Formats: sequence, structure tokens, C-alpha cells
Amino acid sequence: MLRIVDLCAGYGPLPVLRHVSLEVREGEVVCLVGANGAGKTTLLRAVSGVVRPQSGEVWFQGRSLVGLSPAAVVRLGVSHVPEGRHLFPELTVRDNLLLGAASLPEAWRRVQDTLQSVYALFPRLRERERQRAGTLSGGEQQMLAVGRALMARPRLLLVDEPSLGLAPVVAKSVFRALVEINRQGTTVLLVEQDLRSSLRMAHRGYVLENGRVVRSGTGRELLEDPQVRAAYLGV
Ligand SMILES: Nc1ncnc2c1ncn2[C@@H]1O[C@H](COP(=O)(O)OP(=O)(O)OP(=O)(O)O)[C@@H](O)[C@H]1O
Ligand SMILES: [Mg+2]
Repeated sequence: MLRIVDLCAGYGPLPVLRHVSLEVREGEVVCLVGANGAGKTTLLRAVSGVVRPQSGEVWFQGRSLVGLSPAAVVRLGVSHVPEGRHLFPELTVRDNLLLGAASLPEAWRRVQDTLQSVYALFPRLRERERQRAGTLSGGEQQMLAVGRALMARPRLLLVDEPSLGLAPVVAKSVFRALVEINRQGTTVLLVEQDLRSSLRMAHRGYVLENGRVVRSGTGRELLEDPQVRAAYLGV
């Protein structure tokens, strides 16, 4: 579904991603892990059109995403839940969700159905639909960020550090929601610091170090890999 080939990307002349190749197959949850500054966020941004690749290829369902605007990438079926959530704090939960579909005629036609399915996934958002987003708890804000991305009815969901700053029990409920989203047919590329939880739920994973892929395998293979365990799990 997503194929990245020999991708180099960065900011200005500064290289961050160095010849990264990876793929995500339809129906998978693929997890991208690595230390702070490894380039995980940059990789998601290069897919969603926020960062323009310096060289290399990004293919989604056989179409090149290189050079497309973020809006064009969303229209093709790729939604990005950014690190830090980027909600509209003064707007209500409901209006934040509606904005996720507002610029997409296809998604807008089915907006009421999609809204109900997001509320079914996150009942907490339904209870708080008139509340301003800025007054939600951290966990609720993360649910809203994921829900807003789903309003575009994506085929592929890019999720950047959904567990950041959340209590373990709240993070777990966000991971459970991602598993359910995947079960309902959306492919997921997940960036996570919480290796244990994310590799457990992922079909496959990639380890990024200094902008390069240094390991890949099934979630279980990576969890059992001695070097991954030493470097990232402290065992
Ligand atoms: N807008 C930017 N301008 C310049 N450099 C940037 C910018 N954003 C990120 N970088 C640099 O790119 C490198 C990779 O950053 P990136 O955010 O992709 O890492 P990350 O793996 O997501 O890290 P973290 O786990 O801390 O979120 C870092 O050295 C960072 O300083
Ligand atoms: Mg990041």
C-alpha cells in the first residue's frame, strides 16, 4: 500500500533521513521505533507532504506522493495524526471532528455516519461533544486527534506518538482503539516510544537510528532481538 524507496529528507540542506526504504502492506499495523531525533516524525511528514523529500520515492497505492501538497495526500486517503495533536483549542470537540472532513467532498457527504462511528470508537468524545477541545484531558485530546483524522475516511492512518504524556492505562485505551481501527479496515503506520505496547500490537516494525533503518521484522522478532532489547528496553 505504501512503499518508500531510498528516501532522503531533511530541513533545508540538513539531512535527517538517509536512504530509508520501507513498506506497509494493506491491512497491517506497522510500527516505527527509534530514539529521540532518529527521524520518525520527519518520515511521517515526508509521506504526508509536510516535508518535501530531497530524493527517493514515496508510493501510495501505486501513485507517487512526492511533491504533492498535504491536502492532496489527504484526498488520496492518507491521514496524519501529528505529534502534539494540533487541535483547535477554542473549538468544540464536534467542530474539531467536522473540520477533519470539511475540505473533502467525498468524506463530507458521509460526515454524519463517520461522526457516529468515531463516537462509537470513543464514547468519551460523544459525551463531551460540546466541550472546547482545549479543556479536554490529555487522553481525550489524543482521542480527538485520532478521531479527527478518521473523519477524512483514510485508507492509511499515520499516527505519531499517541501515548506521549498519557498515563499507562489511558495509553492502553488509545492503543486498543488503534487495533479496533485496524480491525475495521484501516492500515496503520505508527510511531511510538512505548516499544513494548506498540510492537506487541504491530504486525511488523522498523527501527530507525540516525535517519537509517537498522532493523526490521515482525513485532515479536523485534521484541526478542537482543540488540533492540539492550538499546530500547534496557534488558
Ligand atoms: N522543523 C525543523 N527544522 C530543522 N530541523 C528539524 C526540524 N524538525 C526536526 N528537525 C531535526 O530533525 C531531526 C529528526 O527529528 P524528528 O522530529 O524527525 O525525530 P523523531 O525521531 O521524531 O524524534 P522524537 O522521538 O523526539 O519525536 C532532529 O535532529 C531534529 O532536530
Ligand atoms: Mg517525533
